[in-house]
Amino acid sequence: MSIKEQIRLTVNADKVSVPIYVGNDIYADVKTIASINDYSKVGVLMDKNVAYHWGESIRKVLRKNAIYIIVPAGEENKTLAAAGNVLATLLKHGFDRKSLLINFGGGMICDLGGFAASTYMRGIAFVNMPTTLLAQTDAAIGGKTGVDFNGFKNMVGSFAHPKAIICDSLLLSTLPEREFRSGFAEVIKHALVADKKLFHTLAEESFGAMDEDKLAEILLQSCGIKCNVVSKDANEKGLRKILNFGHTIGHAIEMLSHDTRNPLLHGEAISIGMIAEARLSLLSGLISKEDFKKIEDIIEKAELPSRISKSYKNKIYAKMMGDKKNERNIIKWVLLKGIGKAVIDEEQPGKLINKAIEYILI
Ligand code: GLY
Repeated sequence: MSIKEQIRLTVNADKVSVPIYVGNDIYADVKTIASINDYSKVGVLMDKNVAYHWGESIRKVLRKNAIYIIVPAGEENKTLAAAGNVLATLLKHGFDRKSLLINFGGGMICDLGGFAASTYMRGIAFVNMPTTLLAQTDAAIGGKTGVDFNGFKNMVGSFAHPKAIICDSLLLSTLPEREFRSGFAEVIKHALVADKKLFHTLAEESFGAMDEDKLAEILLQSCGIKCNVVSKDANEKGLRKILNFGHTIGHAIEMLSHDTRNPLLHGEAISIGMIAEARLSLLSGLISKEDFKKIEDIIEKAELPSRISKSYKNKIYAKMMGDKKNERNIIKWVLLKGIGKAVIDEEQPGKLINKAIEYILI
């Protein structure tokens, strides 16, 4: 076991400094990294899939009296009711302000557990140990916590940073192929909004057959972009909004898909959202046809979806109007101004928005 790299998310304005450990087979180090013996109680929040693959391993690592909270898998279970159940379990087991919660899972677990920890007794310590590529590169970093509410994505939540983040590439080995690929959507997003060089590196990759070292390198770069953006604007007053590229249409599609028999994974919805929002960037003259084609090509190469059924057509706009990123009922877009550069707070005419949505319908 060895920790390959340690980077840090530092937000001077909020006096936040979160160590992020990236390596292979380092999950057992959670015991020392989180200094678990310093806490009155330790809870581990997992979904059923993580419990199946890693439950025994984590039980061996942690103290016998750690409490294991196991919830159903899937974003559709990231609800206020689920958060209530986590809070009730913490209370039942006598967790106090000196207790710790370890969020051991994908983005759903990090969001749900972070929200529960940040509200229980007005906030207890938590550590994120993400088990998906998507969570390792994005969801676990940056202090956004929350649950979906009344059909809207992440509508209720808080900003709260974990004490530490442990990104172990070994944990990705049990991920289903579909989940693994979905994670690349956020890696591609980071490249598109902030790092042309990473975009070109990714464009050269064969996403399915990436060797471990290459994956670790890409993971580090992607985490680095996230840290850099969040360190400058932790509370999303400006720059951090660039990380929402693809998420206005993507979140609408994701939530709508939860009412169908084929719910999309977050990364899949964001992938379609990025195509639509790149199209909007093209239609408003911000990017060239060549750049748009490169974006379509990389999404195709990563085997991520780029289209959605026409049955979504009349629902997407209404869903977007409830997005929490809007201001005074006006959708504020994050658009691309070339590869590796994004602009925020863009307003767009309905005609162009509809054309961009038409583009992704099949
Ligand atoms: N996932 C986007 C953000 O953390 O701001």
